[in-house]
Amino acid sequence: MEGLRLNAPAYVKNARLIAWVSEIAALTEAAEVYWCDGSQEEYDRLCQQLVEAGTFKKLNPAKRPGSFLACSDPSDVARVEDRTFICSQNKADAGPTNNWMDPAEMRTLLQTGDQALFKGAMRGRTLYVVPFSMGPLGSPIAHIGVELSDSAYVAVNMRIMTRMGKKVLDVLGADGEFVPCVHTVGAPRVAGQKDVAWPCNQTKYIVHYPETREIWSYGSGYGGNALLGKKCFALRIASTMGRDQGWLAEHMLILGVTSPAGKKYHVAAAFPSACGKTNFAMLIPPAALEGWKVTTIGDDIAWIKPHADGRLYAINPEAGYFGVAPGTNFETNPNCMRSLDKDVIFTNVALTDDGDVWWEGMGEAPAHAIDWQGKDWTPAIAKETGAKAAHPNARFTVAATNNPALDPAWDDAAGVPIDAFIFGGRRSTTVPLVTEARNWMEGVYMAATMGSETTAAAAGQQGVVRRDPFAMLPFMGYNMSDYFQHWLDMEHKLEASGRTLPKIYCVNWFRKGADGKFVWPGYGDNMRVMKWMIERIEGQAQGEEHFFGISPRYDDLSWAGLDFSREKFDSIIDAAPEAWRAELKLHDELFTQLAYHLPQELKDTKARIAAHLAG
Ligand code: GTP
Ligand code: SPV
Ligand code: MN
Repeated sequence: MEGLRLNAPAYVKNARLIAWVSEIAALTEAAEVYWCDGSQEEYDRLCQQLVEAGTFKKLNPAKRPGSFLACSDPSDVARVEDRTFICSQNKADAGPTNNWMDPAEMRTLLQTGDQALFKGAMRGRTLYVVPFSMGPLGSPIAHIGVELSDSAYVAVNMRIMTRMGKKVLDVLGADGEFVPCVHTVGAPRVAGQKDVAWPCNQTKYIVHYPETREIWSYGSGYGGNALLGKKCFALRIASTMGRDQGWLAEHMLILGVTSPAGKKYHVAAAFPSACGKTNFAMLIPPAALEGWKVTTIGDDIAWIKPHADGRLYAINPEAGYFGVAPGTNFETNPNCMRSLDKDVIFTNVALTDDGDVWWEGMGEAPAHAIDWQGKDWTPAIAKETGAKAAHPNARFTVAATNNPALDPAWDDAAGVPIDAFIFGGRRSTTVPLVTEARNWMEGVYMAATMGSETTAAAAGQQGVVRRDPFAMLPFMGYNMSDYFQHWLDMEHKLEASGRTLPKIYCVNWFRKGADGKFVWPGYGDNMRVMKWMIERIEGQAQGEEHFFGISPRYDDLSWAGLDFSREKFDSIIDAAPEAWRAELKLHDELFTQLAYHLPQELKDTKARIAAHLAG
């Protein structure tokens, strides 16, 4: 091509990749092309460039070695669900929970029309070629993607979040398959003008073409909008791959839990965004529950495949954590705090006067700090104006290997066998602390009808209850009802082996009392609930059956080391019929919305619960 050198290193052998990079460089009119090799030297160099550009501040190396702070544009702080599109050929395949546009129309808008957004979008900028593997390199369950981005911030974050660089291209070889991911912040540079610290565009499009397995992201530099291996690939595109190939891509943490007898179990848990996955995956059991131990395999995404032995095996496709900072402290999550000692990229937290970071809920507030918008912040200002030092969706990017509780099998290509699934929303009322499904069907019903209060992880109103089936509402790559069917079909696939299926549980750590405070202590004390689950799997613990499952009575849980009264417990374990009659109306609304292809068994289950509540 004219005017622009592709600069492809000699080790790049994949002709399709080279042709595609050339095509995108021409479309976006990037000033130059840079191929990321994933080396430490390159990471350090790009971080230094980001410091010089004003995107990064280097933190005090005595306090936070190897760490940086980025503060985004205030308009670009979270995922944009209303700008996220699934462009399948047929609208019905995207389903009623996704935004849809005809793929041809979308391509005109983004690529081919006179005013196409990607045309010239990288003018004056470097196009970074970021090859990455979701899953252990070269493993049969891993999949390769290549992100072309005009953001160095994206390149360095991708090096932490995925296996990234030359080693991926070595595996890709001359004719390997990859998912093409194009990303631009949508802010071409004007020659001679200084760049802004966080380039982005008011117009945003996060676009997926499931049939051709392509991702196109325009206008945002933040999180799941821009780090395309995560939600776009590992959930939205991977869920459609899983549908076609018989596996599951889930918004789940994966943990190992070892009992005092030394028996190890594996649990996968789906909670909506900012509802406690990172915390649960790094849980430290209370000292009084002697002999229990939890280790982390993943904190956000699980790829789960049925194995010939009749069990489901899960891998974490990621290599790092992009976790919520506010609320994290040495009491609630010591393993997380220790993970953040060094080599961290913080985004949208506050900068203290000694060059360290601070966020709400970290501990004692500094007398003065610079808030995430670059303004002076003091406790007095906060009191007067309500100003937050850190944005509520402020995050850290850190390698999994920083986690002191990392499971030895976290990088194992074979994955770990799942013994239990947990689904949990953020509900201040109605939903009990924990319920065990009596069978697979009932568990799928619980997951499908799960509700949760919205959080700062997505742009828009916070704290409103919405249905978030399987914690996948923002991440589903196809029709939600077909996905329910896919989960139901899994039972029959596994049943044939004669093995016991994983148990399914529904939890709620977030019931509030009359004082508006959380009743359940949560965090490490969630181990009390998980202990009951494991003992149920072992056939040890008891519970009480009610209209939609089995819940523990007060004496079925261990209370050692915790002062938690029977009355309090009763207030968060109960499933009040009047509250559930109202809840069932919300299930009705969901089922009306999802009527097309909704599995009959789910309707039957709802009818059974309704009949019970009526009578
Ligand atoms: P994503 O990365 O957005 O998918 O979120 P996540 O599910 O990993 O959320 P995370 O673990 O980071 O939790 C976010 C928020 O939930 C923080 O503000 C925590 O303080 C709060 N949280 C986590 N666990 C508990 C709990 O057991 N009880 C209560 N009350 N709050 C919790
Ligand atoms: C979530 O919102 O569920 C996240 C953060 O895990 S982001 O990667 O920004 O989507
Ligand atoms: Mn998430």
